[in-house]
Amino acid sequence: MNKERSRGISVSPLLFEALIMRFSWTDIRLQTAGCSDMHREIAGGVYFVGVDDHRTQLFENLWALPHGVSYNSYLIVDDKIALVDAVKESWADEWLENIREIVDPSRIDYIILNHMELDHTGALPHIARIARNATLIYTPRASPMQKAFFDVSLKEKTVKDLDEISLGNKTLKFVHAQFLHWPETMMTYVVEDQVLFSCDAFGSYGALNGKIFDDESDMQKIEKESKRYLSSIITSYLMFVRRGVEKVRKLGIAIKIVAPSHGPVYRNDPMWIISRYYEWSSPQFEKHVAIVYGTMYGYTHSLAVTLKDELVAKGIEVRMHDVSQSEMSNIVTDTIRASVIALGTPTYDAYPFPRMQAFVNEMEGKRFPRRPLALFGTFGWGGGGIEKLQKQLANMGFEILEPVTRVHARPSQQQKHDLVRLTDAIARKISQD
Ligand SMILES: Cc1cc2nc3c(=O)[nH]c(=O)nc-3n(C[C@H](O)[C@H](O)[C@H](O)COP(=O)(O)O)c2cc1C
Ligand SMILES: [Fe+2]
Ligand SMILES: [Fe+2]
Repeated sequence: MNKERSRGISVSPLLFEALIMRFSWTDIRLQTAGCSDMHREIAGGVYFVGVDDHRTQLFENLWALPHGVSYNSYLIVDDKIALVDAVKESWADEWLENIREIVDPSRIDYIILNHMELDHTGALPHIARIARNATLIYTPRASPMQKAFFDVSLKEKTVKDLDEISLGNKTLKFVHAQFLHWPETMMTYVVEDQVLFSCDAFGSYGALNGKIFDDESDMQKIEKESKRYLSSIITSYLMFVRRGVEKVRKLGIAIKIVAPSHGPVYRNDPMWIISRYYEWSSPQFEKHVAIVYGTMYGYTHSLAVTLKDELVAKGIEVRMHDVSQSEMSNIVTDTIRASVIALGTPTYDAYPFPRMQAFVNEMEGKRFPRRPLALFGTFGWGGGGIEKLQKQLANMGFEILEPVTRVHARPSQQQKHDLVRLTDAIARKISQD
C-alpha cells in the first residue's frame, strides 16, 4: 500500500523541477495579466501598444538604424476607447496582438492619426477592417492625404487647433503642429493625465527592447540617437521645432509625460527631451568646423588632413567626415550646427565626386541655414568639380570663403601651406560669431 501510494506520488526530480517551472510561469502570467508591467501602462488607462523594428536597415530607406527603431502607438481606455497612431505595415499583426491583450480592437471608438507618414499609418487598413465603428481623427490637411494614401472606409472627424473631445473621464486636446515635420502634423494631449503624444517631435532612433521609459533607458545612447533622429528627419523644419515648443509653453499646459512615436516615453524627466530639442533646433551655430570631403586615391584627403591640423593648432574644434565612409545621418548631425563647413572634392567625370554632390544636394534639400563655407579639392586635367559645387552653393546663398583651394593632382608642400590662408579666414569667421 505504502509502496503503491509512494509510486503514485513519486515524481522524478527532473519532472518535479519542470512542474515547478511550469507552475511558476503560469503563476507569473496570471499575476501580471492586465497589470502595468505586462501592458506597459504609462498612466491610468493609457497603454503603450507599440512595436520594435530590428529589421529595417535604413529609416525612410536613407538613414542607418544600427540599433533599430520603435513605432510607438498608444491605447486610451475610458468610456470611449481611443488609439493614438498606428505602426508601419509590416508590424500590423504584432501591434494588433498588443492591442488585443488590452481590449477587443473592434471596440475602438477613435483612431487618432497625429501624422500621415507611413511609419505611423501603414497598418491603418488592418485596424480599419476590424474597428468598423471607429472614427478617424486628424487635422483638415490630413484628410485628403489619408484618402490618397489609403482611403479606408471609416468615418472621419477633422479637428481644429485646440479642439477637444471627451472620452468620458478623460479629455483629449489636439494641438496642431504644422510642419513638425509634415503639413498635417498635430500632437494629442490628455488633459487629466498631462500626457503629450507628440508623434515625431521628441522622437529618437533605437528599438526599445522592452524598456519603454526614460528611467529604464541608457540616456547617453538616447541623447545621441535623438540628436541624430532630429538632425536627419526634421532638419528642414528646425524653426518649426522651436515654434512647436514655444506654442506648448504658451498654452501653459503641464506636461507630466512626453510620449513620442519613436523612442522612449519620458515620465521621469519630460523636460529633458523638450529642452534638448529646443537646444538642437537653435538658430545659433556651435563653435566647431565640419570638414566633409570625398576622395578616391587620397589627394583630397591629404588636403582635408592639413586643414584639420591647422584648425586644431588654432584651438578650433573639428568634426571630419569622408563621405564614402561616414553614414549620411552622422554627417548631417555634425554639420547642421557647425559655424563653418569646409567641403572638399576631387573632380569626377568633370563633376564633383558623386557622394559629395549627394551631400551638397542634401544640404540644399534640408535647407541648411546659411553660413560661411570653405571649398577645396583636386583634379587631374580639366577640373570642374569644385567649380560646379561653388556655383551651386553660391546659388543657395552661402558665403564662400577665399581662397577656394584648387590643386592639380598631388598637393605640394607649398600648396598645403596655402591652406593656412583658408584656415585664417575660417578662424576669423569663428571668432566673429
Ligand atoms: C573615375 C575618375 C574620373 C575622373 N574625372 C576627372 C575629370 O573629369 N576631370 C579632371 O580634371 N580629373 C578627373 N579625375 C582625376 C581626379 O579628379 C584627380 O586624380 C584627383 O586628384 C583625385 O583626387 P583623390 O586622390 O582625392 O581621389 C578623375 C579620376 C577618376 C578616378
Ligand atoms: Fe514622420
Ligand atoms: Fe515617424
